[in-house]
Amino acid sequence: MSQVDAGMTIADRLALLHQTGGNTDMGKLLRTFWHPVTLSRELPPGRARACKFLGEALTVYRGESGKPFLVAGHCPHRLTVLHTGWVEGDELRCMYHGWKFNGGGRCTEAPAEGDATAAKIRIVSYPVHEYAGMIFAYLGPLPAPEFSLLRKDVFERPDGLLFARREQWPCNWFQQVENSMDAVHVSFAHRAGIVGNFGKAVTGAVPLLEYIENDAGIRQIATRGPGNVRVSDWTYPNANHIVVPGVHAGDPWIDVGHWIIANDDHTSTRMMIYSIPSTTPEADERIRRYFAEFGDYNPADHHDELIHEGKYPEDILLQLTSAQDYVAGVGQGVIADRTRERLGKSDVGIALLRRICWREMDAIREGRPTKAWTRLRQSSELPIQNPEAIAG
Ligand code: FES
Ligand SMILES: [Fe+2]
Repeated sequence: MSQVDAGMTIADRLALLHQTGGNTDMGKLLRTFWHPVTLSRELPPGRARACKFLGEALTVYRGESGKPFLVAGHCPHRLTVLHTGWVEGDELRCMYHGWKFNGGGRCTEAPAEGDATAAKIRIVSYPVHEYAGMIFAYLGPLPAPEFSLLRKDVFERPDGLLFARREQWPCNWFQQVENSMDAVHVSFAHRAGIVGNFGKAVTGAVPLLEYIENDAGIRQIATRGPGNVRVSDWTYPNANHIVVPGVHAGDPWIDVGHWIIANDDHTSTRMMIYSIPSTTPEADERIRRYFAEFGDYNPADHHDELIHEGKYPEDILLQLTSAQDYVAGVGQGVIADRTRERLGKSDVGIALLRRICWREMDAIREGRPTKAWTRLRQSSELPIQNPEAIAG
């Protein structure tokens, strides 16, 4: 019998799902995976930014050579933030008293202290990997696992269009992950959305649901009728891969990879990659303009009008669907009180997700190996169904 079964109430078990700090079961589990922590385009050479992941304050910076690094958020001297310092070569100098650190976390200079003191000082640093417009980091025990991504070839299309964006929400990460495992919400939350290609393709009838644990995570199949089958592949523990219709009729479908990042227990970030096959120069340019215009939308910037006034944006793909998910997710509270919910038949995916998380956390707590997840590599099989419905 696991320690959870032996000593925990249902409320305790539910709380395990949202706790993300470094000493919690879920925090330890999440640290065994690579996660995107910032967008490449937000980090030009010579720039440093503050970022928070699993409750840990960090500094991500790009050296003048173009190489990204992830180190502690605060200087060990008098603890001020490090991202306000200066990038010098591939090192970062604190703005307060000039201590300088390299990307491996070693102090290379402490001007008022001398070299002997500097040599003894270290800050944390973590491996990073830049890929598809994002900077991924690994915060777990070393050695880091091989960097891997579901269906990398989709995001590496020669001449494909690739856009990366992010949204930061004031709620716990697990609410966002559970939303990915909930196909029924699409029929309602996105109903205002029976507009455009997205609405025609995926909203409407309540679907029949199938959730299957596989080597990578959970495959989700929602069948709304003959020829309307929506499949998404969710990769453990926090990534989803879906295909959605293009912005305009006739545009190619879009592969969307997204990750839900726990900044801390109260804040989460959606990091998204949109990969679109190139077609004609005119269409490509139109799509580029669309992402330039709408890509920086963050529903949290419109919180009051969304939550209090029910006033939604009109753009479908990047704004409206995000805003609808935001209202549903943030509307549950900063941390949903799962002891008060009443799950139904539509929540079978959420129930499976929780069981997997508890199983993996049991292993972490008991010092057993967690599941050796592999990444799906085939590019082809998220079937695009219902093509006639989207033709108009
Ligand atoms: S606080 Fe950073 S050098 Fe003093
Ligand atoms: Fe949604």
